[in-house]
Amino acid sequence: MHLCFSSCSIRIKKHIFINKGFSLKKVAIDGDDYILIPDVDSVEPLTSKAFTVAREKHANTEGFLVREEEDALFAYTNSCPHTGAPLNWTPDQFLTTSRRYIQCSVHGAMFKMNDGECFSGPCIGKFLKPLRVKEQGGKFYLAYSEVKKSPSV
Ligand code: FES
Repeated sequence: MHLCFSSCSIRIKKHIFINKGFSLKKVAIDGDDYILIPDVDSVEPLTSKAFTVAREKHANTEGFLVREEEDALFAYTNSCPHTGAPLNWTPDQFLTTSRRYIQCSVHGAMFKMNDGECFSGPCIGKFLKPLRVKEQGGKFYLAYSEVKKSPSV
């Protein structure tokens, strides 16, 4: 089966389970396997969006997307390097009031958008865990290798 987007470079490989058992597509993009990030339609400059990717019998991958003013898109695991707590203030709010940096809601650590480095706060010098994502055809995809394995694996 072949699904064409604008560049016609995405090919459906097989179905996997994602988000509470709904069957969604595993696709090949530029020679790598990706899965659709559900419920994210757009990420405007200087905004952030949380997402969850879940596979049956696997732990959820909790992450977020952020876009710089210059349009570059980045994604990180939603886990602060200080304590492992989720970073966000509200469901999609990961940014400072200036919207130029990521900020942890627990103790206020601040991180650069482009590499996730903490430059202020209790985990200074540590990094958010980056996630490989692709934006294509108006949708967002997470690298299949980033999907968490079962805790027992
Ligand atoms: S848990 Fe994020 S700064 Fe402490």
